Amino acid sequence: MKKLPQKSSFIQNMFSEVPSTYELLNHIMTLGFDIMWRKRAARIAAATNGNRWADMCTGTGETAVYLKQFADKETEIYGVDFSLPMMSEATKKQQTHRIHFVASDIKALPFSDKSFDLVTISFATRNLNVSKDSLMQSFREFYRVLKPGGYFINLETSQPPFIFFRKGFHLYLKLFVKLLGSRISGSKIAYAYLAKSMTLFYSAEELADIIRQTGFEEVTFQRLLFGVAAIHHSKKI
Ligand SMILES: C[S@@+](CC[C@H](N)C(=O)[O-])C[C@H]1O[C@@H](n2cnc3c(N)ncnc32)[C@H](O)[C@@H]1O
Repeated sequence: MKKLPQKSSFIQNMFSEVPSTYELLNHIMTLGFDIMWRKRAARIAAATNGNRWADMCTGTGETAVYLKQFADKETEIYGVDFSLPMMSEATKKQQTHRIHFVASDIKALPFSDKSFDLVTISFATRNLNVSKDSLMQSFREFYRVLKPGGYFINLETSQPPFIFFRKGFHLYLKLFVKLLGSRISGSKIAYAYLAKSMTLFYSAEELADIIRQTGFEEVTFQRLLFGVAAIHHSKKI
């Protein structure tokens, strides 16, 4: 089982309930590791060429802010999301000044073909996986807007390869993430969904295959913290 039977509208409504506690909860639930992972992904992204970048499903703009930190001054950074409440948290931050926020479903982006040098996404690929087809449609859309030679960097939770860690991770999700998230955010649905979607998500190898199937090449990944998360790196040739 590799998908949850949910629609995009369910995801969109769910993220309207959590913006004010979203970042704090991520830091608590990952013991601060998400900050290091975002910075690492942003550094990898910033080492690529070009100066027109888009952070897809940008949410409260946390990764977009790190991208801006590591980018040259002339780099234009876009943040795209279909949740206005999440992006309105982003625009409240001083550091998001000069990031262009665009409200859109990433499956139908309002950008022309070959218009970006870099596409990033963090902790949102699971949400695009309402079905494998839907996930592939999203990746194809990223591919369409990238220029040849452009890079796609994906940071997402993953599955630890060793069964002992995997079982422990799933137990942690069930006991800690689901209960604490529901309690602090007040949204039982959002954090039950988060725990379940993380448990059911692809392994790093499976996700690499899906990225490859949508046209990207030179797909590589690095596991983070025994494989509970991974950064995938790929290129449009
Ligand atoms: C878990 S949050 C991740 C936010 C941010 N990238 C981060 O690292 O914290 C998922 C975000 O994806 C957005 N999202 C999910 N599906 C989307 C879609 N089809 N189009 C645009 N945004 C989407 C949600 O609105 C939400 O803000």
